Amino acid sequence: MTIARREFLKAVGGASVAGSLVGYGAPALAAAPKPLDFGFTDDNVPMNAANLCPMPSSITTAHARYAQALDLSLSSESRHSVEALKEEARSRLAALLGTSADELGIVRNTSEANNTIVQGVPLQAGDEIVLWDQNHPSNSVAWDVQASRLGATVRRFSVPTDTGSIDEVVDLFVAAVGDRTKVVSFTHISNISGFKIPAAEVCAALRKRKSDIHIHVDGAQTWGAVDINLGAIEADSFSGSAHKWFMGPREVGLLYVREDHVESIWPNIVSIPWGQTEDDAPAGARKFDALGQRDDAAIAALADAAGFHEAITPAGIEGRSTMIADRLRAGLNDLDVKFVSSLNPAFKSSVVILSVPRENARGLPGKIYQDSGIITAATGGLRMSPHVYNTEDHVDRVVAAVKKSRALLA
Ligand SMILES: Cc1ncc(COP(=O)(O)O)c(C=O)c1O
Repeated sequence: MTIARREFLKAVGGASVAGSLVGYGAPALAAAPKPLDFGFTDDNVPMNAANLCPMPSSITTAHARYAQALDLSLSSESRHSVEALKEEARSRLAALLGTSADELGIVRNTSEANNTIVQGVPLQAGDEIVLWDQNHPSNSVAWDVQASRLGATVRRFSVPTDTGSIDEVVDLFVAAVGDRTKVVSFTHISNISGFKIPAAEVCAALRKRKSDIHIHVDGAQTWGAVDINLGAIEADSFSGSAHKWFMGPREVGLLYVREDHVESIWPNIVSIPWGQTEDDAPAGARKFDALGQRDDAAIAALADAAGFHEAITPAGIEGRSTMIADRLRAGLNDLDVKFVSSLNPAFKSSVVILSVPRENARGLPGKIYQDSGIITAATGGLRMSPHVYNTEDHVDRVVAAVKKSRALLA
């Protein structure tokens, strides 16, 4: 599946993007396929980025090349040449996210990153953890387990989908904080409602309310979808999975930890490349990715995935994804369906969800796939999460399929 370059440029509408696409592939991805080549066929189209994304063909090729290089030779030269790309990936991801390489751990996925924070933030009996009630289990149940272990408490609060303004959302977060609160943890974009929390405003207000709380942001639905600058968001930690919106290798993720917090957060796993003593930890947030032998080929391919994002730019990707999601929302709106996801420009995202009666929920994505060849999900209703590889034709096809199944929706 190749998305016409002209169509992409029209969608993101920027001369700077055109310029960067011309240069794409030159340094890190020599001889790679065109940037917007994806391997899927037109009768098998993913629209489920909130769960798992395909890699661009160039990244699939790079990944296979690194894996083959290792299988052909496990000499130290061969291994070092692949392993060295981990640091290259770290630096390039840091630049894309507006942070420093020392603040990024390359872990396995968001679940692992969230759990490093859950288990690593120093807490004691009587402390309180405040959670948005839409958090993913790895950022919700994981806190319950840890609170039981420590004798801490968990308080949850809701943000109604029809909340009208950013200030109202900020007020709900601030009101949930009490004198014993030591952690506030929330998902930036909910996987079950698509609601986008105004993270920068929330973090700034929480800082003002109480300076000693650890603020963790689950970025599983953000990293690779939204042009995010971690330096500008006053979060203490942030997690993500490369295999979601970042369109990178599977089972590779990131954990950002603010520089001044790295030392105080306990690592979950201690192994190579730690040295022989407790003081011999890898530098910075690298201490969170010291998990022993890793899939070095997948981690190396992360550098190529960073090259893909540098070329198209995070702003270009967000623009294209948003344009496609807006077209989807408009098409669905014409069917007079009930949205779970917000239509408010302040809170909408590229995660678009329709309300479906419970008894129809599980079967509906299969029917939509049969009728349109588009892959959706049953999370939170009928969930469609389009990304840069989706075209207007894909949107029109899925809308037609939803229309055909209209009677099964709320
Ligand atoms: C908000 C959120 N957090 C965490 C995760 C877990 O991601 P992973 O399975 O890549 O660890 C998901 C998965 O869908 C998610 O949506």
